Amino acid sequence: MKLIAPSILSADFTILGNEIKAVENAGADWIHVDVMDGHFVPNITMGPFIVSAVRRVTSLPIDVHLMIENPDCYIPDFVNAGASMISVQVETCLHLNRTLQMIKECRVQAGVVLNPSTALCSLEFVLEYADYVLIMSVNPGFGGQVFIRNSLDKLRDLRKMIQDRDLSTLIEIDGGISEKNIAEVSSAGADVFVAGSAIFGSKDYKKTIDAFRKKIEEG
Ligand code: DX5
Ligand code: ZN
Repeated sequence: MKLIAPSILSADFTILGNEIKAVENAGADWIHVDVMDGHFVPNITMGPFIVSAVRRVTSLPIDVHLMIENPDCYIPDFVNAGASMISVQVETCLHLNRTLQMIKECRVQAGVVLNPSTALCSLEFVLEYADYVLIMSVNPGFGGQVFIRNSLDKLRDLRKMIQDRDLSTLIEIDGGISEKNIAEVSSAGADVFVAGSAIFGSKDYKKTIDAFRKKIEEG
């Protein structure tokens, strides 16, 4: 099944509750929350406080993407705030296996994120511990950037790696996703599509999400 996860990074924060309800009514599957610390990435965004606010307005799964150093220190706070799944960047984890187990012990889904320059071999010994892998198709830090084309090769290789090992790991893609490229991104192997500016920057969220699904089917 293919899932659409609007990233609230591009939402209007003066009316965040309405924005979340609007994408939920438009057919979103997950709500994607981008957490940035100004150290691992050159931007500062939101923390557990926002996640608990999101939790109060929707029953959709909340997909928390941690772009922060020392993620272990904050995982319990995001779980308590209502995260349904938490992903960590491999580049930030000295003991990635331990971090994934820690997330699962909190009874939420555990994801691993790879920067565009990070090789798939970093997943060699953790793939079976992850519920999903998030492939960054832009350098993390900001919405509205251009999709990095060789992410398609990475998606294909990862799909093969998962199949070869007979795993059911989901593949999520994040960055520069739009109506223009979602079909080929889907064909390359992605299951979950994060989109910020393409959804929240559009006039009609339902029309945009419906168009995404149509392109995915056609692709
Ligand atoms: C970037 C974030 C993304 C971002 C995507 O660091 O992880 O989730 O919101 O934004 P768009 O869809 O505009 O590229
Ligand atoms: Zn993200």
